[in-house]
Amino acid sequence: MPSMTLLAGRVALITGAGGGIGRGIALRFAQEGAAVALHCRTGTEAAHALAEEIADGTGARAVVLAGADLTVEDECHKVVAQAAEWGGGRLDALVNNAGVQPVQDLPGMPAADWREVVDTNLTSVFACTQAGAEVMRERGGSITHIASVEAARPAPGHAHYAASKAAVVMHARAAAQEYGAYGIRVNTVSPGLIDREGLAEAWPEGVRRWREAVAVGRLGRPEDVGDACVFLASPLASWITGHDLVVDGGVSARPTW
Ligand SMILES: NC(=O)c1ccc[n+]([C@@H]2O[C@H](COP(=O)([O-])OP(=O)(O)OC[C@H]3O[C@@H](n4cnc5c(N)ncnc54)[C@H](OP(=O)(O)O)[C@@H]3O)[C@@H](O)[C@H]2O)c1
Repeated sequence: MPSMTLLAGRVALITGAGGGIGRGIALRFAQEGAAVALHCRTGTEAAHALAEEIADGTGARAVVLAGADLTVEDECHKVVAQAAEWGGGRLDALVNNAGVQPVQDLPGMPAADWREVVDTNLTSVFACTQAGAEVMRERGGSITHIASVEAARPAPGHAHYAASKAAVVMHARAAAQEYGAYGIRVNTVSPGLIDREGLAEAWPEGVRRWREAVAVGRLGRPEDVGDACVFLASPLASWITGHDLVVDGGVSARPTW
């Protein structure tokens, strides 16, 4: 990775940083010079290992903010406040990455299961954005939600997930309008299938289909999503807001006939 410092001096909070994509986003932010606050709920060990890797590998500052369940509004506000306090009162970038992706058919789905997905993937984004924007009001900032290509084209068993991600894209557009006057930009990144350890064994059929469909010839990597988030948080994107950046190796660009 080339050595650049697109985000030097910035303070960023990444939610769900103990997970696969969150790790890729946090690493890329740190490589670009940002101080990174790593939120995790249960993945404390992974988050601490990542913080060490960041400190050793990039010299960037990193802190683990563990425990917040982002389905709880107060905990969203608390973790954002903790990040801003750690950042000396500033928060320049927030990446709303935490989310769940259960596979479940609509017939017979209990409303509680629907709500769990919507609360985790959508309502947490609303609350974290509201809290983050409050901190950013003085000097502006960038908020990026991790949506999905499924916001536009649902996969089987993912009605709740796809609906939550479509709503996240629309939330960003609406928030971009309302927060723009404060210099706060709000965008989404919509990844396609991102590789992880054990994915090919757990879902061979899906991986095979993705490999056939992808124009660029490989599955996505967490850092691909990180690159897009870095760009959107950087001065290179200072006139980009309310945008959905699809990161899927060209799968969504295929003809549908
Ligand atoms: N993987 C893909 O191919 C793909 C494609 C498109 C979009 N996405 C999106 O990318 C994001 C990250 O996905 P991933 O694949 O990296 O998944 P992951 O490894 O399972 O990570 C998701 C993270 O979200 C956190 N989380 C879940 N529920 C939470 C809650 N109630 N409160 C706080 N944190 C919570 C988890 O935290 P703890 O582990 O600490 O509990 C976990 O670290 C998600 O929004 C997902 O929908 C993924």
